[in-house]
Amino acid sequence: SYLFFFSSGSGSLPDGVTRGGQSIASLETTNAADRPEKTFALTAEEKEWTIEEKESVEAWTYNGTVPGQELRVEQGDFVQVDLTNNLDVPVTIHWHGVNLANNMDGVPGLTQDAVQPGESFTYKFVAEDAGTYWYHSHQHSSKQVDKGLYGPLVIEDPEENGDYDVEETLMLDEWPVHQAKDGPASRQGMMESRRSGDGEADTKDLYDTFTVNGKAGEAIDPLEMEQGETARLRLVNAGFQQHQLAFPEGSAEVIAVDGEKTSSSGDSSANIVEIAPGERIDVAYTKQDQTPVFLGEPGDNEKARDMRIPVLPEGTSRSEAAMASPETETTARGADQSTDTILFDQVPEPDVSYTMDLSMGMDMGGGGMSFQINGRTFPDTPPIQVQDGDIVKVEIENNGSMNHPMHLHGHDFQIQSKDGTTLEQPGVKDLVHVKPGESYTIYFEANNQGEWLFHCHDNNHAELGMSTIVDYD
Ligand code: C2O
Ligand code: CU
Repeated sequence: SYLFFFSSGSGSLPDGVTRGGQSIASLETTNAADRPEKTFALTAEEKEWTIEEKESVEAWTYNGTVPGQELRVEQGDFVQVDLTNNLDVPVTIHWHGVNLANNMDGVPGLTQDAVQPGESFTYKFVAEDAGTYWYHSHQHSSKQVDKGLYGPLVIEDPEENGDYDVEETLMLDEWPVHQAKDGPASRQGMMESRRSGDGEADTKDLYDTFTVNGKAGEAIDPLEMEQGETARLRLVNAGFQQHQLAFPEGSAEVIAVDGEKTSSSGDSSANIVEIAPGERIDVAYTKQDQTPVFLGEPGDNEKARDMRIPVLPEGTSRSEAAMASPETETTARGADQSTDTILFDQVPEPDVSYTMDLSMGMDMGGGGMSFQINGRTFPDTPPIQVQDGDIVKVEIENNGSMNHPMHLHGHDFQIQSKDGTTLEQPGVKDLVHVKPGESYTIYFEANNQGEWLFHCHDNNHAELGMSTIVDYD
C-alpha cells in the first residue's frame, strides 16, 4: 500500500514499535470526509509585551500575546485558521512539524505569496497525527519569529485523555531586553550591524533574557502540583539557542520527540532534557515530594537565571523554592531518542542519495558571514531532486563550529545512524540537531508532492544561506 514500502510482515520490529507513514488524508484541503471542524482566527499585530516587571519589548504577535494563542484540536479534526495581517510587513504561518498539502505550508515565495499588510489568508489541513507542534511566520523568520510571531499547536490523542494530572505547554525563547534599549532592537538588526563591520559582538550575548511562554523571572506562571502528581510538559524551543531543563533525579521521562511517542525507547529517563531550536520534546514529570522547586537551565548560566519554572505544591511559595540540581547528570537529546513508530524496519535501499555538508564561510562579495550547504548559499544550494515514491537518503555532516538544527518540511524522516554507526533503534523526527563534528544519516519517503524547505532552524543561519529544497520532478 501507500504506507508501507517493505511489507515484509516483519517480526523483527522491537516490542511496541510499529511502522507508520504519511496518509493521504493529511493532505486534504477541503473537508470532504465531513470531519469535525475547528476554526481559529489569528491576527498578526504589534504589541508592547511585558516580559517581566518593568521590562517590556516591542513584539510582533498573533492575537496580542507571546506566544500566540494555543491552538488545541483533536486528532482527525479538520483545522481552518484565518490569518489577518495587521502589521506593516508581509507575514505567513508555517505549521511546523505538520505534514500537510504544499500550498498550506506557509513558505513565502515557495508555497504561497506572503500575506500583505491588511490582507488575509486561510490555512486548512487535517490534524492527522497527535502530538506537540507549533506555528510561526516563515517570512523573514530571523526577525519575525524572533519578535514573537509564534505559538503552540497541540493535536490531542483522545486515547490519552486523563493520563496526566497537569498539562502545560512551555515555549522557550531568548530576548534582547536590556542591551536592546540603546542598540538594534532585534537580532536581525544586530546581525546587520555586525555585518556592517562593528566587529566581534557576539549576537548570543545580546540576548540577555531567556523566557518561558514569553515571560521571565517572577512573571513565569508556577506549576501547581502535589506529591504524586504527574504533568505532561510540552516543551517547544522557539528561540535560536539550545536550551536545557534540569529536573530532580528520577522525576522526568521523555515521552515524545517532534510529536512522536518514545515509550519503546526503554530507559528514556534523564534529569536534564536538551532541546534544540525548533524542536519539541514532551516530558512526563512527576512531583516526588511536597517541596517547592524550580525547573531551569542547569549550571551557572547568567542569562538563564530568569528562566525558572516554579513548581509549587499547595502551601508553598516561590521564595522557598530552590533549583533542581541533579547529582549525576544524564542528558536526553531529541536526536538520540528512538520512537514508537518507525518508517523503515531495515536500512532501506535509497533511490536518491544526497550528502549535505554544513559549513560556515565568509561571503567574499562583502556580505559578511554565510552559512553553506555543500559550499553554496541558498538559493544556489543544490536541491534534493526526487520523484514521488522515492526513498531518499541524506547524510548530514557538520564541518563548522556552530550547532545546526536541521528541519525538513512536509515529511518525517528516520534517523538511521549517527557518526557512522547504525542506531539500534532509530527514531522518527522532522528536526535533527547536528552539532560540530557530528554526522547523521536520515531516510525519508518522498510521499508529499511539492517544493519543501530543508533548513537550519537557527533562522539566521537559514537566511544567511543554510537552506535547500526537496523538489519533486
Ligand atoms: Cu519551524 Cu522552516 O520552520
Ligand atoms: Cu545553523
